[in-house]
Amino acid sequence: MSDCLFPILQPAPDHHPSFAHDPTDRVAEARHPATVPGLKRYYIQTYGCQMNFYDSELVGGILMQAGYAPASSPDDADLILLNTCAVREHAEQRVYGRIGQLKSLKEHRPGLWLGVLGCMSQRIGGEILDRAGHVDLVVGPDSYRRLPELLARLESGEGQQQALDLDNEEDYGSVAAARGPGGLKAWLAVQRGCNYACTYCIVPSVRGRERYRPIPEVVAELERLVAMGTKEATLLGQTINAYRDGPHRFDALLRACNKVRGLERIRYTTSHPLKMRTEIFKAMAECEKVCEFLHLPVQSGSNRILTHMRRGYSREEYQEKIQGARSRIPGLAVATDIIVGYPAETEEDFQATLDLVSAVEFDMVYLFKFSVRPGTPAADFPDDVPPEVKQARLERLIRLAKEISTRKNAAAVGSVQEVLVEGRAEDDPERRLVGRTRTNKPVHFPGDDNLIGQTVGVRISESGPHSLQARETLGNE
Ligand code: 5AD
Ligand code: SF4
Repeated sequence: MSDCLFPILQPAPDHHPSFAHDPTDRVAEARHPATVPGLKRYYIQTYGCQMNFYDSELVGGILMQAGYAPASSPDDADLILLNTCAVREHAEQRVYGRIGQLKSLKEHRPGLWLGVLGCMSQRIGGEILDRAGHVDLVVGPDSYRRLPELLARLESGEGQQQALDLDNEEDYGSVAAARGPGGLKAWLAVQRGCNYACTYCIVPSVRGRERYRPIPEVVAELERLVAMGTKEATLLGQTINAYRDGPHRFDALLRACNKVRGLERIRYTTSHPLKMRTEIFKAMAECEKVCEFLHLPVQSGSNRILTHMRRGYSREEYQEKIQGARSRIPGLAVATDIIVGYPAETEEDFQATLDLVSAVEFDMVYLFKFSVRPGTPAADFPDDVPPEVKQARLERLIRLAKEISTRKNAAAVGSVQEVLVEGRAEDDPERRLVGRTRTNKPVHFPGDDNLIGQTVGVRISESGPHSLQARETLGNE
């Protein structure tokens, strides 16, 4: 995974989802309950992928255990943490921008600590401390348990702190994540780290080797979540389909999670095509709670580029996997990630990517312009696709992906879809209800507040490139 997974907030300029928003470039403020007087308060701002958002919940759990309480805004906090992403240069520039903005807040609020967490810290934590003297601590993704100790050191006047060791055993299994209220949907990391070495990617060096949480532990956590009201769980991992627990693999984990009573939906993200085995598709097909949605990053449609990236598969092998999945899982929606402008990508290579996108007919494509990551193998090659060519290729792919998703969504008109109602759509002038189909497409429709949190049937009446609409819930028709 990388700047990571789910589409939600606004896309950044270097990073262009064709469908909804980009999973990998989210920025969001933590949702926190009211503050508790007298306690030290923390505020976390998260950048990047779903794993990072989940990690922020873990950090919240660690801090609450240490006696901190959540703050409702940075202005109310004694500790501000930025949980950062390193997957593209732009993501890091934004964090430096935010660190700069927070300088004056720190100047006006003696006793306020500012910390930088996550992948960017792991990559260049020392540089952050040097470049921004008002940053008090940098902590990498495997060192969050040390936060209370580091904060105590800060309090005792020891100056800037860093904890940047990777720990291939750390899975945060015993940490109770601080999840926000009303957790209809919850994330749960079952796998962390990455054993691949894709040439462009910073993740293996900032997230360490693969590790996995045991099946019984995952099931027990899901049961606790269900007891607190969760209906949909998204299992997270940088290469989740490489999951192992002794002799058990990812399909066994899915089957075990499927037995959790009261849980309605299971999603997972993200996968590497090389580890996408038929058993996983069978489990997806047979487990009624596992949603018909597959995020399988392809990165390029050119075999020459795929080889250069060290992805380990050809476009034909990728297409076979998709074919295998679709033949077993009726109604499956498929999403992918694509990088344009990788070093030495020719017009012919790019054409091969366009052809692949047309052939596979993805439901969603998350598009990225290649960004040099120092220390990765691809940084040794000239970043020789001119920016305007990268931009033009990106726009051509956006157009194509939009055409395809528009067509596919139009084909859903008239169909009945199961929707888990999440709330009122904030970007909708009519403030209709919004929820997602099992295939992860947003659906807007009118209805009462009492439907929020419910799973309802709707008949799709209209469609757009990025979402669906219904006139009413079934039963009212
Ligand atoms: N430049 C551009 N995009 C990248 N990604 C990973 N590394 C880079 C990079 N150096 C993309 C990949 C990955 C997604 C999360 O981010 O497509 O799947
Ligand atoms: Fe997530 Fe880190 Fe990868 Fe960004 S670099 S997508 S935060 S794992």
